[in-house]
Amino acid sequence: MSKSYKIAILPGDGTGPEVVVEGMKVLGAAADTFGFTLDTTTFDFGGDRYLEKGEILPDGAVDELRQFDAIYLGAIGHPDVKPGILEKGILLRLRFELDQYINLRPVKLYPGVWTPVRDKGPEDIDYVVVRENSGGIYTGTGGFSMKGTEHEVATQSMVYTRHQVERCLRYAFEYTRRRNKEMTLGLCGKTNVLTYVFDLWERAFHEIGEADYPDVKRDYYHVDATTMWMIKNPEWFDVLVTSNMFGDIITDLGAMTQGGMGIAAGGNINPEGVGMFEPIGGSAPKYTGQNVINPLAAIAAGGMMLDTLGEREAADAIESAIMDVTGTKIQSLAAGKMGYSTSEVGDMVAERV
Ligand code: IPM
Ligand code: MN
Repeated sequence: MSKSYKIAILPGDGTGPEVVVEGMKVLGAAADTFGFTLDTTTFDFGGDRYLEKGEILPDGAVDELRQFDAIYLGAIGHPDVKPGILEKGILLRLRFELDQYINLRPVKLYPGVWTPVRDKGPEDIDYVVVRENSGGIYTGTGGFSMKGTEHEVATQSMVYTRHQVERCLRYAFEYTRRRNKEMTLGLCGKTNVLTYVFDLWERAFHEIGEADYPDVKRDYYHVDATTMWMIKNPEWFDVLVTSNMFGDIITDLGAMTQGGMGIAAGGNINPEGVGMFEPIGGSAPKYTGQNVINPLAAIAAGGMMLDTLGEREAADAIESAIMDVTGTKIQSLAAGKMGYSTSEVGDMVAERV
């Protein structure tokens, strides 16, 4: 009997559903070619459901999602819902409650894709950011006091436990080994100012690296300098590991250097549990329903999902197919400027898989 994976599909808002359809088209082709099956269940979580029912996630939704092998997400964010409600109520809640403590974000310039970084090509821009996804400012303590008065105080602290730091670093070392490219892991921090939190990160980094990963070379970069090198010398990077907030910021920059949000994919990974894979571009509501949005980021996220499920050959085939389409077909990654519709791009990748 062939292997079967239970996949929860969360198309979400805006153009999310359209890109998820193309992603599933490609995943279906990969399943046929590589001999596994995908058993899918679709959930309607998102802005429309919230506006209709006043409920973000129904009771039991998180436990239900725990039963799947992986979650495939389109996009979260609705123009009629105040920013923060859906992001916190769906995306961040699932990340935290499913303990997806790694956010894996490859920064890879595919052939034929325009980059704003002059004089750099696909051989220069090819690294992976391992973003800590469960702690830091995102979950640190905070609040207001004397709100609305001239003495108002607002705090939001960067809090990290040794446990959170250590599991993230170990994942990053293991990932660097498996990638087997330059065998170099760079820590991106701010040890010159955040002298407590990044002291912890830096000590743990060297302790773990020295004890258990002597074959992996260790580098350190301050976060501000990291953004500079991402433009000036992206070829220096192999794998970068960083905190939640810094990872959020530098991966948007990274996405732009690889051609923009139409191509950038991310995986929210719990190595012992269920992961959630998403294009990192958002819901792009103004393009909804027009069949013009670029589905490649969602397709690439589907590839990452298969890779994490252990279907590495299928994942590689999807990546090669994407590279062939960017290298020989698509004119631009931008919505409406691809030279093809959303569904045609999905067809071209699926045929190649
Ligand atoms: C991302 C997004 C989210 C984040 C938002 C939507 C909560 O920017 O996935 O990078 O900050 O993590
Ligand atoms: Mn972000």
